[in-house]
Amino acid sequence: MTREVKQWWEATAEYFQAESDVTVGVHWNWPNDFDPQILADVESCDVLELGCGGGQLGIGLAKRGANVTGIDLSAEQLAHARTLAAEHDVDVAFCQGDITDLRMFEDERFDVACNAWVFQWVDDLAAVFEETNRVLRPDGRFVFSMPHPYYEIVDADSQVVTESYFDTGRYVIESEGVAVDQVMYRHKVSEVYNDLVDAGFDVERLHEPGTDDSDAYEEGPWGTRTPELMSKVPNVLVVEARKQG
Ligand SMILES: C[S@@+](CC[C@H](N)C(=O)[O-])C[C@H]1O[C@@H](n2cnc3c(N)ncnc32)[C@H](O)[C@@H]1O
Repeated sequence: MTREVKQWWEATAEYFQAESDVTVGVHWNWPNDFDPQILADVESCDVLELGCGGGQLGIGLAKRGANVTGIDLSAEQLAHARTLAAEHDVDVAFCQGDITDLRMFEDERFDVACNAWVFQWVDDLAAVFEETNRVLRPDGRFVFSMPHPYYEIVDADSQVVTESYFDTGRYVIESEGVAVDQVMYRHKVSEVYNDLVDAGFDVERLHEPGTDDSDAYEEGPWGTRTPELMSKVPNVLVVEARKQG
């Protein structure tokens, strides 16, 4: 449920922003330097960031001349985003809401929709994709990244597959020192692809960036992104889709 996800983000936003070290700009996650050109040409475009969190991606796009709107569940995350936008002297319209319901935006309001690392907290991806399709103009682009579903079922220490890829849906992670548990959702790659197609998108590119050289990686936070495992299994899935014209 969205309420559980919101509660967890309100409780952990400050810690997350202090520890995750997300930099302002276009980043799809590890490897951090993967294809910064995907959203290079956004000058004067109306951009919607879905689940903008601390605002780093949207602020990066605003610096490239885009008119950015960011929506997120968490007031704490949005407070961080507003402070960061002021520090970078850019205007971004931040609003609080659930990305499964974008009724606050009219049809065909945006040229581009994007996000990084959000859909693992969203149950109903089909609803997000349908709503995103509605608010995009014909031929509008939808670019996002998410943890690679296969990486998420491998234990980072033992490198053993500990969960079933087919066991999709809700799972709960106990958060040490936090009163609420973290509720997340597993999705299969085929589910992501099929839901995009059903919502009216052409999927133009799937990216699984990485290399088999473990020395090329830096350790990610919280012990789950290890160079050893990332050099064996793709840890991020990046999707480029386009609303059918
Ligand atoms: C990892 S952060 C996004 C990355 C961002 N660059 C950051 O560092 O904060 C994930 C964000 O998704 C938001 N989120 C999760 N589910 C959401 C939903 N259904 N609607 C809106 N935002 C959601 C969370 O509140 C959180 O701020």
